[in-house]
Amino acid sequence: MSVASRPSTQRIAVLPSAVADQIAAGEVVERPASVVKELFENALDAGATSIDIAIEDGGRQSIRISDDGSGMSREDAVLSLERHATSKIHSARDLVGVRSFGFRGEALAAICSVSHLEVETSLDDGAGTLVRAAGGSVVDVAPIARRRGTTIRVARLFYNAPARLKFLRGARSEWRAILDVVGGMALTRRDVRVTMAHDGKPMVTLPAAASLRDRLAAVYGGEFAGNLLEVDDVLGTTHVAGLVERPADAGTATRRAFISVNGRAVRDLGIVRAAESAYRSTIPAGVRPTLFLDVVVAADDVDVNVHPAKAEVRFRDRWPIERVVESAVRRALGNFEAGATFGRTAWPTPVAPPPPEVVDVEALIAEPSSPEDGLFVRDAKEPISAPAAVAPAPVVADVPPLMQLRRTYLMFEHEHGVVLIDQHSAHERVLFEQFMRTIDHGEQPAQRLLFPMTLHLGPAEAEGFERNRDVFERLGFEIEGFGGHTLLVRAVPMPHPRFDPERCLRETLASITGDRETGTHARHEKLAATVACKAAIKAGESLSPAEMRALYVALRDTTLPAHDVHGRATIVQLTWDEIERRFGRR
Ligand SMILES: Nc1ncnc2c1ncn2[C@@H]1O[C@H](COP(=O)(O)OP(=O)(O)OP(=O)(O)O)[C@@H](O)[C@H]1O
Ligand SMILES: [Mg+2]
Repeated sequence: MSVASRPSTQRIAVLPSAVADQIAAGEVVERPASVVKELFENALDAGATSIDIAIEDGGRQSIRISDDGSGMSREDAVLSLERHATSKIHSARDLVGVRSFGFRGEALAAICSVSHLEVETSLDDGAGTLVRAAGGSVVDVAPIARRRGTTIRVARLFYNAPARLKFLRGARSEWRAILDVVGGMALTRRDVRVTMAHDGKPMVTLPAAASLRDRLAAVYGGEFAGNLLEVDDVLGTTHVAGLVERPADAGTATRRAFISVNGRAVRDLGIVRAAESAYRSTIPAGVRPTLFLDVVVAADDVDVNVHPAKAEVRFRDRWPIERVVESAVRRALGNFEAGATFGRTAWPTPVAPPPPEVVDVEALIAEPSSPEDGLFVRDAKEPISAPAAVAPAPVVADVPPLMQLRRTYLMFEHEHGVVLIDQHSAHERVLFEQFMRTIDHGEQPAQRLLFPMTLHLGPAEAEGFERNRDVFERLGFEIEGFGGHTLLVRAVPMPHPRFDPERCLRETLASITGDRETGTHARHEKLAATVACKAAIKAGESLSPAEMRALYVALRDTTLPAHDVHGRATIVQLTWDEIERRFGRR
């Protein structure tokens, strides 16, 4: 039986091209902000150095973008509105490692199919072309005079797509979305001058900027930009650069996360998560730091053609890239300058670790470590004069003179200002890292008690101990069950002579009871942090000069000296800048 004899069963028909175009447009053009994004990218691809954006009614009435880029010939201007018309690639092979933002030849056609669109363009100052189109069809082509560059005006967006129109938000939220999109692109291309006006009012002027920090200062203000920490690391073919928030500032203002990959602003949760995980143990869980990161990878390691609005990319192998992001951010957090500042003052560009201040060497040499100075001598099995087990503090010339204030803070000066260290937080950070190392790599030297200590525990604490027995043992506790809920403690770690093992153990067990079962690493971190907190010297204990120096050196050698394990600052600094400002010297 032939198909023709059963026409009533045919239900499939090819859609008219106008309908097909509108459907395709839906993927590219969701709201005014997506139009702005496409037009802005086209201007950048055309080599513009200056882009002016004028929006009416949140883009619902009109969107106009002018650039000083290459412009188009009359023929190209007409052709640019056709689907699959592009000057940016010629074959599928060109897609690999494509450097331009555009490559599909879709955007203008898509926008044109759902709006009234005008193109004014010129290759040189002088004779140019005006193309007017509506609903995807060219209405008029005429010569005009204009300077080099292109202006595209999109009016009455979605006039012929009522379903889309219904989903548009109020002018304010559409404007905000446009600001976000332009903000992101302005951060990736800081060399381009950008202005924006809304309903005739100039709203944003971003001059071309030399650096990300300068551009951020123009977008969000100098104080905000000045307080961010510089990230800059290369590993293999991956380069991660940018600015991130100091842990002490995280959570204090609106959180922003901006990621670009090979110069494209993208959403990439994996990269954001990797960067955030670098803040582990410097900020409380759940607090999310502000991040501005440019990730550059080999062009053929990334596929940019995976998302209709090009808002996402796909990596061939994302794991190593995320690891570089994490370690780069971690390193940025790992110097003294990452500490909180009084008076929000801009740090000069990347700052070196505390400068060698060659001072007091004689005093150091004249002061051999004595048992009282053994705050950081933990290993009581070894002779007490042996180098301290915690970051031995040999006679070093690069320790500045330190002063203890209120038996709580150590103070010193360095190149950029005056620094205060909280002795408890600092020691906590030192012990935490040391404990994590012993948990991961080996046992902690312990001190046998002459008389074993008995601890009577509640059922929950006893259960907490059993669950973490292995970790306690690695930390240097030698403990036997003694029937019921009684523990017999035979040996304890010796973080310092003033360490009170019984109190430490009790408080640690009390604070870990009821913990939900988490991953092994998280459990180790939690326990190491708790023991570190309980074992660290407290505020109010006076320290000898040698102890202060040992603490300084030990802290400096940690991976995150500026933060304790709860996310609080260990270091606070008052910069010379700020001091001079307060004294009216500048
Ligand atoms: N502002 C502009 N200045 C100069 N040429 C432009 C401009 N905007 C568009 N064009 C030209 O029009 C062509 C079509 O633009 P369109 O945005 O539709 O596609 P595309 O940028 O090539 O790819 P995509 O759809 O991925 O954005 C471009 O390839 C470019 O040659
Ligand atoms: Mg384009």
